[in-house]
Amino acid sequence: MRTRFVAGNWKMNKTGEETRVLVAEMLPELSAIKGADKAVCPPAPYLMSLANLLAGSGVGLGAQNMHWEASGAFTGEIAPKMVAEFCQYVILGHSERRAYFGETDEMVNKKVKAALAVGLTPIMCVGETLDENEAGQTAAVVSRQTKGGLAGLTPEEAVKIVVAYEPVWAIGTGRAATSQQAQDVHANVVRKSLADLFGKDAAEAIRIQYGGSVNAKNAAELFGMPDIDGALVGGASLKAPDFIAIVKAAAG
Ligand code: 13P
Repeated sequence: MRTRFVAGNWKMNKTGEETRVLVAEMLPELSAIKGADKAVCPPAPYLMSLANLLAGSGVGLGAQNMHWEASGAFTGEIAPKMVAEFCQYVILGHSERRAYFGETDEMVNKKVKAALAVGLTPIMCVGETLDENEAGQTAAVVSRQTKGGLAGLTPEEAVKIVVAYEPVWAIGTGRAATSQQAQDVHANVVRKSLADLFGKDAAEAIRIQYGGSVNAKNAAELFGMPDIDGALVGGASLKAPDFIAIVKAAAG
């Protein structure tokens, strides 16, 4: 059985002081929730201080991006080992990075491999835009991103990763995919692509999160679906009561 996993993607929000306040608000309740994995992904400058606050709490820490190279002349970038000093997770290939910073499946693939090499768990994001959705290209796009991002991994490596299906049209819009829409893509596109790549057993072991306007109200219904193994939460992860409620829903 796959343990559900909820991660909060704080994106480019909050000051250092605000991140510490938010963690302090969430920590007692979050760390008491058993039966689901949970993590927060703050902006990079706050990883060190939050790693200290979260130590031993059972709440994981993730970065929102990293470079694939180990070191060198890459001004402004963060290396895998730098992330791994503080974090257990790293979000890779988020649609905002693909849309605004030119990330391709090939770049995401290098990042996934680099993350695994330093012991980080990649949360690799895939998802179609509204135009692609309306043109009936959802399966083609999501399977291309899944297979491209994970190309060259062994099944033993693949079972360590998390995939987040985040339809771009659902992100920050208040218009989440229905639980049935998400279930269909998770089972028939993402898990099917994983099975094509790594075999059925590995595919069954890999967790697939849903992301896009997940909130305290719709979380339980989403998690009721057999192939929705958690959530990657944006806006609602910035409010302690909402994020706690979503993690509680995942714990069942
Ligand atoms: P929202 O939950 O704000 O729609 O964002 C989803 C997301 O992009 C998480 O990575």
